[in-house]
Amino acid sequence: MPTVDDVRTFWNSGPCQSTLSSAEDRRRYFQEISEKRYGLREWHVPTVAKFGSFRGKEVLEVGCGIATDGLEFAKNGAVYTGVDLTAHSIELAKERFELFGVPGRFEVANAEAGLPFPDRSFDHVYSFGVIHHSPAPYKIVREVHRVLREGGTFNVMLYNRSSINYYVEIMFLRKLFRGLLYPGFMPRLISAVTGFDRWKLEGHRKIMKEKGKISKQEWISMNTDGPFCPLADVYNRKEAAELFKDFQNVRQEVWEFNVEHWSFLGRAIPKAVAYRIGRRWGWHRMIYGEKLSGR
Ligand SMILES: C[S@@+](CC[C@H](N)C(=O)[O-])C[C@H]1O[C@@H](n2cnc3c(N)ncnc32)[C@H](O)[C@@H]1O
Repeated sequence: MPTVDDVRTFWNSGPCQSTLSSAEDRRRYFQEISEKRYGLREWHVPTVAKFGSFRGKEVLEVGCGIATDGLEFAKNGAVYTGVDLTAHSIELAKERFELFGVPGRFEVANAEAGLPFPDRSFDHVYSFGVIHHSPAPYKIVREVHRVLREGGTFNVMLYNRSSINYYVEIMFLRKLFRGLLYPGFMPRLISAVTGFDRWKLEGHRKIMKEKGKISKQEWISMNTDGPFCPLADVYNRKEAAELFKDFQNVRQEVWEFNVEHWSFLGRAIPKAVAYRIGRRWGWHRMIYGEKLSGR
């Protein structure tokens, strides 16, 4: 089982979505990342995160990465704190807030080992695409519960097991076609035909050649956030409900069918159809709830 040190090393070497822009001007660099996230890739995030609903409230983001969403909370008047496992992400997040003249507090912290805040310090905890990378997700959720005030809310995104991405892409199609990657020229050819990232295909080929047998957990991990991602997990409705069982009024939604994964077929899918597929079998399981009582 990968450790939190493996997770830290991976995300520190390439903070999440930090390569979405290569602009030299730093303001432009961060702006382009936001534009790509909300315009193309994860256009549902402003809808599910509800950035404008926390004016004057104390919001904690667990696993803030380079604080793309954090900036939106803060610009909309939230009193924002971001924590992340990696120093590199926090450095970029601080630079971003300074460049845009927005107040925010940041800490490098491993949420599994304990969030560096007293009990009942926040009104809202947000965590997008983080807890499924943890070897001890229950510990992070326990910390989220501890730092929330009574009446406080949370909003978490976990990868959805009951999705097209998991059952059709990861567990069926990618397994079926992985043998195609063995000849050395294939990553380049497949990339040229489909438009898929060549470096990812090369990475898959390298791991398969070097490792031989790959466990189910390793297969899931290497097919989510790139071939070298050490750990990622998926959750269905019941598994997510179990994880958040200490909270009240928990509800779930699913979002996001990524047409980019389907090459030219994906480009033929109208946005309205992709939206409907995403709301039924999407990759992002949003979990919302409240802490009404407890420690
Ligand atoms: C997929 S990225 C998501 C970043 C950000 N939430 C976003 O949506 O852009 C996952 C992030 O979670 C952080 N992370 C993973 N495990 C963590 C932990 N135990 N404590 C704090 N942060 C963690 C990683 O360092 C990484 O920045």
